[in-house]
Amino acid sequence: MSLLDAARQVRENAHAPYSKFKVGAAIRAGSGAVYTGCNVENLAYPQGTCAEAGAIAAMCAAGEYRITAVAVIADAPEPVPPCGGCRQKLLEFAGPDVPVTMATTDGAERTMTLAELLPGAFTAEHMSRT
Ligand code: THU
Repeated sequence: MSLLDAARQVRENAHAPYSKFKVGAAIRAGSGAVYTGCNVENLAYPQGTCAEAGAIAAMCAAGEYRITAVAVIADAPEPVPPCGGCRQKLLEFAGPDVPVTMATTDGAERTMTLAELLPGAFTAEHMSRT
C-alpha cells in the first residue's frame, strides 16, 4: 500500500465531531515501516490532536525516530498542509529534504519538502553559541 493510501485509510478513523474535518497522516520511517495517525478532537477543544502528531507518536512507540516521507490527506478544496506546530514536530525527526505529500480525497496532490514548508525553522543551532 502506498503512503498516501495508508493516510487515506486511517483518516476514516478520525474523531472529528467538532470540526467535522477528518485528517489522515502516514509517515515512512527509517526501517521502511509505515506509521499512521488521525486527528482526535476533544470537547475541551485545545486538547485535540492532529493526525501528524498521532503518526509521530505511533512511530516513537514502535522505537523509530527517523522520518523519510510524510503523506497527509483531508476532504478539502486544496491539498491541506500540516499546521505550523506539526511542521515543527515533523522536523524533530525528519531532515529538511523530506518530502511531504499533501492530498485531497478528490485526488489533488502536491508535494513539498519540509524545508519549503517550514522556512526559518527553530533548530538546535539557535540554542548554542559555540
Ligand atoms: N488538523 C490535522 O489533523 N492536521 C493538520 O495538519 C491540520 C489540522 C486537524 C486538527 C483539527 O482536528 C481539524 O483538523 C481542524 O483544524
